[in-house]
Amino acid sequence: MLRRIHSLPALVLGLLIAVLAISGAILSVNPAIDRLGTTVPERGQVSVALLAERIAENFVGVEQIQRSPSGSIIVYYNQGDRAEAMRVDPLSGKAIGPYAPSPTTRWIKNLHRSFLADTPGRAAAGISALTMLVLCVSGMALLLKRVGGWRQLLRPLRGSFSQRWHSELGRIALLGLLMSALTGILMSATTFGLIPEGADTEPAFPTAVETPDAPVPVGTLPALLEMDLQDLRELVYPMPDTPSDFYSLATAQGDGYIDQATGVLLVFQPHDRVQNIHELIYRLHTGEGLWWLGLLLGVCALSVPVMSATGVVMWWQRRRLMPRIANNSGAQAADTVILVGSEGNSTWGFANALHDALHKAGKRVHTAPMNLLAKEYRQARHLFVLTATYGDGDAPTSARQFLARLERFSGDNKPAFAVLGFGDRQFPRFCQFAREAREALFRRGWTEFLELDTVDRQSSQEFARWGEAVEPALSLKLGLTHVPSHPQTCPLELISRMDYGAQVNAPTSILRFGPVASPSAGGRLRRMLGISELPHFDAGDLVGIVAPGSPVPRFYSLASGSSDGFLEICVRKHPGGLCSGMLHDLQPGARIDAFIQPNPDFRPASGKSPVVLIGAGTGIGPLAGFIRNNTGKHPMYLYWGGRDPASDFLYEPELDGYLADHRLTGLNAIFSRTANGGYVQDRLLDHASQMRRLIEDGAQILVCGGRAMADSIRQTIDAIVAPIGLDVATLKLQGRYREDVF
Ligand SMILES: Cc1cc2nc3c(=O)[nH]c(=O)nc-3n(C[C@H](O)[C@H](O)[C@H](O)COP(=O)(O)OP(=O)(O)OC[C@H]3O[C@@H](n4cnc5c(N)ncnc54)[C@H](O)[C@@H]3O)c2cc1C
Ligand SMILES: Cc1cc2nc3c(=O)[nH]c(=O)nc-3n(C[C@H](O)[C@H](O)[C@H](O)COP(=O)(O)O)c2cc1C
Repeated sequence: MLRRIHSLPALVLGLLIAVLAISGAILSVNPAIDRLGTTVPERGQVSVALLAERIAENFVGVEQIQRSPSGSIIVYYNQGDRAEAMRVDPLSGKAIGPYAPSPTTRWIKNLHRSFLADTPGRAAAGISALTMLVLCVSGMALLLKRVGGWRQLLRPLRGSFSQRWHSELGRIALLGLLMSALTGILMSATTFGLIPEGADTEPAFPTAVETPDAPVPVGTLPALLEMDLQDLRELVYPMPDTPSDFYSLATAQGDGYIDQATGVLLVFQPHDRVQNIHELIYRLHTGEGLWWLGLLLGVCALSVPVMSATGVVMWWQRRRLMPRIANNSGAQAADTVILVGSEGNSTWGFANALHDALHKAGKRVHTAPMNLLAKEYRQARHLFVLTATYGDGDAPTSARQFLARLERFSGDNKPAFAVLGFGDRQFPRFCQFAREAREALFRRGWTEFLELDTVDRQSSQEFARWGEAVEPALSLKLGLTHVPSHPQTCPLELISRMDYGAQVNAPTSILRFGPVASPSAGGRLRRMLGISELPHFDAGDLVGIVAPGSPVPRFYSLASGSSDGFLEICVRKHPGGLCSGMLHDLQPGARIDAFIQPNPDFRPASGKSPVVLIGAGTGIGPLAGFIRNNTGKHPMYLYWGGRDPASDFLYEPELDGYLADHRLTGLNAIFSRTANGGYVQDRLLDHASQMRRLIEDGAQILVCGGRAMADSIRQTIDAIVAPIGLDVATLKLQGRYREDVF
């Protein structure tokens, strides 16, 4: 909902807002330029009378003296029968140069105020300012949601290039944009008379004296002698040879008239509060008289076109990722419902194929994410659940709310269901979430029309085979096929390797890769601009590597983020292992093809709560990456198990450095093949009371490594936290227990 509030108005009025912002940014330079070209005398240094006197020495036929908020002085005078305007020096009253407002500036001002379209344009500008305010507030709310609250507002941001720039600029420019939007709305409301501008009557014109005395020189008028130049806005001279006329004066405090013979201020009407507020709003919006603020606001405004562009890119990417299903019936009209659980979107491709085949066979099909399970399905006879599994047997993003929504399902009609799990047999809990969804449906009294089946690594053959089983169950001919597109790989070059563990039968290498310089124009440009050619990733994501001899990619947990400038993994060589063997044979300079598989759940939570990192063997990889990036020095404790400190103490020198610079708070390494050695779970038990304290303080636990280790860590933590009324399941629900298990 919040996202819709943010993106919908932005998409509709984005272009107008960008025009307002760019024109505003250009105009914002004017007060500064004006200020730079002007000497502003100190308060008390020059009175209006003094300046008027000096101007009189240099000009004849003066009609008006104007002082801009930046302090520049313009004199309007008549030369013969030609009206002239000249910029003058506020100290000497001498001419600096003719004053001719730039037609370009006037055009940009009109564009900014009314999109060159008079009253309708002014209304559009006002509505755009209002939309800007909505974007600022909703954008701020989205950002806070993303970073996890006010306190995290300054923490580094993650995401794609567009996401990061959009949010980064948003948080930098927010205050400036808020101020421009608010003041713009108020000015617009004043223009349309929606709020008062203050007293709109001029001071009463003084009654003329019947036989006025002869005028005295302007430089001797007492009212002007007392007035500092900084307070002047405008001094309009009396009509020449008209002793009954008056000087008309506008100052920062109010307006009035001066007798040209006595120099007395005859009438003075001070500005009222509303006028003062209106003036302040005007100055805050334009930067007039506050040139530094004008420049600041202008810089903030420049972020708007960039945010518009990145916003459109993000919207487009989301749209592209959210599959478009042709002929999608409404939930209540459909006779067949397909619910999809997916994170990386490949399952949507399979769901789309099923949707098309059922539609062609004459069915009214409704396809939606599992999170959008309806409260009832009035006409559905069949329900298909196609879901991937993530984390360690958990729900993918589009299915996280499914189990809770299922509990709230209130319809009498429960269509017969079939679950198809998508997973990867490399993960220990193969298609676990599909199984859980099925069990939950059973528990809620739904019946199954086809037994659960699974698809390993998006296999087209397994999907087609399942399709053949669906046909008799529905008495339909479907001919289901779908060939998923494979992830795009990028080349990487080995920069360095550190080898460990050979003596303890656990050959393990830390491999550090860099990008391969692309010969394309894009690659050259990136290098010229100093932009890394690595794809974006964070420690904790996975890299998929395709080894020659097998089309199936192997995953490795990343021990670095792309901001580190290299891609690092920690690989244990398996006897006869195709991919691990290939990686262990690599020498610096050798190249591999790889792709990034995001794993955004496996990350330290933001904030100051402690993080307990637990791993064994190569599981240290992402944990070391988290510690390296803990530049905020939040409390981080590492529990790690190896075999022998003399042979496989991975990352030992780095960890010592992290301890010294406080990126790591506590290091607990334990080795199984030494005297008095043990496993990592033994060390956790030794530290049970400290662990309980950390968990009571809100600690998050991140576990990385093999299945067996992860299982026993889970049991150990369960035992440790039982006395404080907690268990791993609860911690998982709270997002405080995350695993990367292989
Ligand atoms: C999410 C995820 C993250 C991973 N992260 C890492 C990591 O950071 N570092 C790392 O070294 N590995 C990691 N792995 C394991 C890695 O993906 C490969 O499975 C491993 O390198 C073996 O692949 P291979 O091609 O060398 O072996 P294969 O040719 O596939 O198999 C050869 C032999 O190795 C055995 N074998 C394969 N995998 C394992 C395993 N995981 N445990 C025990 N025996 C196995 C097989 O049973 C077989 O006998 C991860 C796996 C997953 C799913
Ligand atoms: C980080 C990560 C964790 C995964 N965990 C599991 C798992 O526990 N069990 C499983 O069967 N598959 C697991 N998978 C594999 C995905 O479920 C599988 O690739 C699926 O086809 C992805 O579908 P999607 O692209 O629609 O999300 C995991 C994949 C990733 C990247």
